[in-house]
Amino acid sequence: MTSRPSITCLRFTRVRCAPARLARFVVALGLALAAALAPAPAAAQVEIVIDASKTGPKIDRHLFGQFAEHLGKGIYEGVWVGTGSPIPNTRGIRNDVVAALKAIKVPNVRWPGGCFADEYHWRKGIGRARSVTLNPNWGGVIEDNTFGTHEFMDFLGQIGSEAFLSVNLGTGTPQEAAEWLEYMTASPETTLGRERAANGRTEPYKVAFLGIGNESWDCGGNMSPEYYLSQMKIYSRFVRNFNPAQQDAQQMLRIAVGPGGSGPRWTAWTETIMKAWQRHTWSWDIEGLSLHNYTVVDWNAKHKSVGFGEAEYSQILKTTLEMDRIINEHAAIMDRYDPDKKVALVVDEWGAWYAPLPASNPGFLVQQNSLRDAVLAALNLNIFARHADRVRMANIAQMVNVLQAMIITDKEKMVLTPTYHVFKMYVPFQDATFVPVTFDAGTYTSGNMTLPRVDAIAAKDAAGTLWIALTNVDPNRPADVAVRLAGAGAVSAAGETLTAAAVDAVNTFEAPRTVAPKPISAKVQGDRVALTLAPKSVSVISVR
Ligand code: AHR
Repeated sequence: MTSRPSITCLRFTRVRCAPARLARFVVALGLALAAALAPAPAAAQVEIVIDASKTGPKIDRHLFGQFAEHLGKGIYEGVWVGTGSPIPNTRGIRNDVVAALKAIKVPNVRWPGGCFADEYHWRKGIGRARSVTLNPNWGGVIEDNTFGTHEFMDFLGQIGSEAFLSVNLGTGTPQEAAEWLEYMTASPETTLGRERAANGRTEPYKVAFLGIGNESWDCGGNMSPEYYLSQMKIYSRFVRNFNPAQQDAQQMLRIAVGPGGSGPRWTAWTETIMKAWQRHTWSWDIEGLSLHNYTVVDWNAKHKSVGFGEAEYSQILKTTLEMDRIINEHAAIMDRYDPDKKVALVVDEWGAWYAPLPASNPGFLVQQNSLRDAVLAALNLNIFARHADRVRMANIAQMVNVLQAMIITDKEKMVLTPTYHVFKMYVPFQDATFVPVTFDAGTYTSGNMTLPRVDAIAAKDAAGTLWIALTNVDPNRPADVAVRLAGAGAVSAAGETLTAAAVDAVNTFEAPRTVAPKPISAKVQGDRVALTLAPKSVSVISVR
C-alpha cells in the first residue's frame, strides 16, 4: 500500500513542490517566525575581580610558538614557492605569508618535524645539489629538499623569529646531529663553518631551542622511556652549540621528548625522564620536557572541521579543556623532581585534529579552521598562561595549511584563519606579567555536556597597561561582564572581539573576513569596566 501525502502539493514558480519539501518549508517558516518573535536569550552576568597589584609569572612569548613540518603544503607552497615563482617572494619565500606571520610576532618556529624530523638528514638540504627523497610519513610524496637549513633560517630572519630545531634521534646518529649544530654555529675557520660560509652564511646562526627527537615512543622509533633516556643523554652531551653569542646569555635550550597524553603510560614516561634528570651529572642536562596533546574526540572517527553544529562544538571544546588536567598531571611529577621549575614543560604540539577535508590527500592533514577553533585556541592559551610558571613554551600544530593552521594558501591565494586572529589579538600577552583573576565562570550546557561558560585571563605589559582576554563559550547567550579592578581606577577600556553568525563559520578566499576581529566597547566607571561578550566570542581589551 502506498501512503498518501497528507499535504496538497502547490506550484511555486517553475518548481513543482514535493509534499515532504512543502512540509519542511512550513516547519522551517514556523521555526524562523518563532525565533524572531521569541525574546533574546538573557545575558549571563559575570563578575570578574582583578587585583593588578598581585602579579604572577611572566607569560613567556614562546607560548605563542608555531610548528612547521615538511607535511603536505605546510612548507612547500605554504612558505616556499621558489625563486622562479610568479607568487611574490623574497629568495623563494612567499611575501604574503611572511607579512602575515610578522604581524603575529611569531617567537619561534619548530622545524623540520614532527615525524619527518626523525627521518631528516640535514646534508640533503644544503648546497647546490639537493638530494631528492620521499616523505614516507606524509603521503609518500617527493621531497626535493629545496627548503633546507639556510632557507629555514632565512625564513626566520624574514619573520623575525627564533629557531627550534628537532634533531633526528630515530634514524640519525649523535654524530650527525652534532655536525648539524657545528655546521650552523661554528666559526667559519672550521671546516663545517667554512662550508656554511661557502653556502652563503658566514656568521654562525643562532639556534635557540633544540628538540632531541620527536615522539620517540611512536613514530620516532617506538622506544621505551628507558631506551629513549639513554639515547637522549648521549645527544644532550654531544650536540653542542658553538655560537659565541650563545655561550653565556641566550644559551640553547634542549628539549627532551616527553609524554603524549594522560594516564599511566604517559606519567611513567615523565617519571622516568624527570627522575633521571634529578640525578643528572655535569655531562648531560635538559632545559625542557615536551608534551604533545591534540584535541581529538575519537581518533578513528574524527570530527569534521566545517559543517557541524552545536553538539560537535561543545564536544570538541569540552575535550580541549582536558589540556589543563593533562598539564597538572605532568607538572605534579615534575614538581616532585624539580621543585625549582628549572625544566620547562613545552607543549610543542597542540591544536585540533579533524578529519581531512573531502578530496584532499589524507596524508596532508588538510582541515578548515572555524570560529570553534578560535575559541579553542583562546581556551588553550589561557590554560598555558595559568601554568606560566612551568609551561614556558608551546607550538600550535601547524603554522600553514596543516591541521589548526594560522594561514591557508592555494597557489597565489592566501587567507587568515580565525585561529590567526586570536594569536594576533593575544600579542600583548607575549612576555607580559600574569595577573590573577577571580570569577565564577558559570556553566553552559549542551545535551549531556556541561562546560564553563566564560573564561578570562589578565596580564600587565612592560608599559604597565592591563590586558584582559575574555571568552564566552556559550554559543547562544551573551555574557554581561563587570570587571572590578581591586585597588585601582580606570580611565578607558577598549579592544577587539572575534565572533560570527555560526559556530562553524570559516574564512574562505572568496569571503576572507567572515570571522575577523571588530572593535568592542566597554564602559568605565571608577574601578568598574562593563562590557557584553557576544555568544561564542573571544575578546581582548586593554584597560588604562
Ligand atoms: O603534527 C602532525 C604529527 O603529529 C607530527 O608529525 C607528529 O609529531 C604528531 O604525531
